[in-house]
Order: sequence, then structure tokens, then C-alpha cells
Amino acid sequence: MCGEVNVLKRKKVSIIGAGNVGSAAALWIASKHLADVVLVDIVVPHAKGKALDLQEALPIAGVDASITGTGDYRLTKDSDIVVITAGMPRKEGMSRDDLVKVNADIIKSATKEVAKYSPKCILIIVSNPLDAMVHVAARVSKFPKQRVMGMAGTLDSARFRAFLAEKLDVSVQDVTAFVMGGHGDTMIPVLRYANVAGIPVEDWLPKKELEKIVARTRNGGGEFLPLLKTSAWVAPGIAIAEMAEAILLDKRRVLPVAAYLDGEYGQKGLFIGVPVVLGKNGVEKVIEVKMNAAEKKAFRKTAEQVRNVVKVADRFI
Ligand code: LAC
Repeated sequence: MCGEVNVLKRKKVSIIGAGNVGSAAALWIASKHLADVVLVDIVVPHAKGKALDLQEALPIAGVDASITGTGDYRLTKDSDIVVITAGMPRKEGMSRDDLVKVNADIIKSATKEVAKYSPKCILIIVSNPLDAMVHVAARVSKFPKQRVMGMAGTLDSARFRAFLAEKLDVSVQDVTAFVMGGHGDTMIPVLRYANVAGIPVEDWLPKKELEKIVARTRNGGGEFLPLLKTSAWVAPGIAIAEMAEAILLDKRRVLPVAAYLDGEYGQKGLFIGVPVVLGKNGVEKVIEVKMNAAEKKAFRKTAEQVRNVVKVADRFI
């Protein structure tokens, strides 16, 4: 026998907030064999129950992973990634921005704990209002900007792609499209770059149909409120797992995330949705796509809207 034993250490992802989105993210992350998962919630029995249910599913799924539910941040120690989903979800009649006061406080205290036990982790923020909450987490953690980001673009783009595929009656696999900007009503589903197997969607569908899809994508989260009386969780969960996979496997996926802009797109000091290269160090590169005049105008508008929410959030840091 060799003297040295090569022990394969599993990666660790902690998820703060064991609600619908946190639990769904845990399920998708485990089912992709990505990491051990620690689910943290202030309602400890809830975190424990969610973790236990998932643990019991793993023998059937054929997944070896440790799943822990806890209220104790010490168990998150040395996480590779920490996902923060904690906070109040939207109720009917509320915009994401209405949540700013309540959730800034929650993000602040969660981030402090996370940074204490996992100072080298990559932070993925999910709580709303998304872009402003990423700003809060970045300020509180003092992490390099590359290691702090928000999940919204992967979800909004999945919605955009789903609606395009449905309308065109083609495989979702062949639809490539992304959404930029803030995770709110001013987000920009970028039609000019949306394509099916390389064929521009603008050549496939009349403008009127495309505009309907753009509007539905913008209201993608809101569409759930009258239906479920709360936000979605299955698609948000897999959108988180997609980012975690890109980071943990150093895939260098090109995905839209809320990333820090330092002059790109004419914006400085702002977290907002843009396409990036996602790899083991987090945001490896912000990609600056060429925009026409209308897109530039739309980007300025969405950036302005995010800045206004950030200003409010800043008062609570
Ligand atoms: C949504 C929430 C997660 O868009 O913001 O569904």
C-alpha cells in the first residue's frame, strides 16, 4: 500500500435561509453531486426537517453527501460557497424594493456570521431587492468584489428561454438568451442576442410576439404572486445550483449574474446583472457586450433604479 492516502474531500455549500428557495437550492445542489450542504435557519426545527427530508432522499438518488440542518453558523465553517436566501419574500402587491428595510438588516447579520466562519468563501446573494442586497453583503463582508455576486440573471434568463422555446415550439436546449440589468421591472431581456441554435429570434418571431415575451420575462417573478401567494422556488433553486456548479467545477460558464462594475457599461461602484465568466475564483471576468443606443439607454435606466434602492439600503448598513 502507498503510504499516502488520497482522500477526496467534498466541497461544502452553506445555504442561509431554509425556506422554499434555500431548500430547493439544497436539493438541486445535492442532486448534481456538487457538495455537502449545510442549511441554516433561525427556525432551527425547520432547517433540521428540511435537511432530514433531503438526506433520506439521497439513497434513492444515489448521491453521497452530508446534509445538515442547523441554527448554528459554526457548522458553516470553511464553506466554499455560501448562498444567502434569508429574508422576507414578496407578498401580492409588493415590489421587490418594498423589502429593502427588512431584508437589509437580515443580510447584514447573516453576512457578518458567514464572513466570520468562511472568510474565503464565495457569496451568492438571492434575497430581494437583489442588486441592493448584494451591495449590502459586499460592504459588510469586505470580501474582494470578485467573490460577491447575486443570483437573478440565471433565473430571469431561464424564464426568457422557456417562454421563447414555448412560443417557437423548439427545444429549450437550443435557446440561448440572457437578461441584463437590475432584478426588477427595468431588467433587460436582450432580444438582439437571443438565438435558437445561432439563428436570431428576431428573424423568427414578429416584433409584437417578442415584445410580449419580454414583458412576461420582466414580470417573471411577479407572475407567481397571485398564483402561489409567494415567490417561485424550483427555478430559483436550480439557477443557484447552476452558478454553484460553474464555480465549484471551475467551468468558466458565461452566465448573467449581479456583479460589481468598475467602469464597465459606464457604471462604477455598482452591483447589477451583466454576463460574466464564472469560475473557481467567482467572477473571473465581466463581459462587456456591445450595445446599441436603445440598449444603452435601457441600461442607464435600470442602473439608475438600482442606485436608488442602494441609497436606501445604505442607510441600514
Ligand atoms: C423571483 C424572485 C426569486 O424572481 O425574485 O422569482
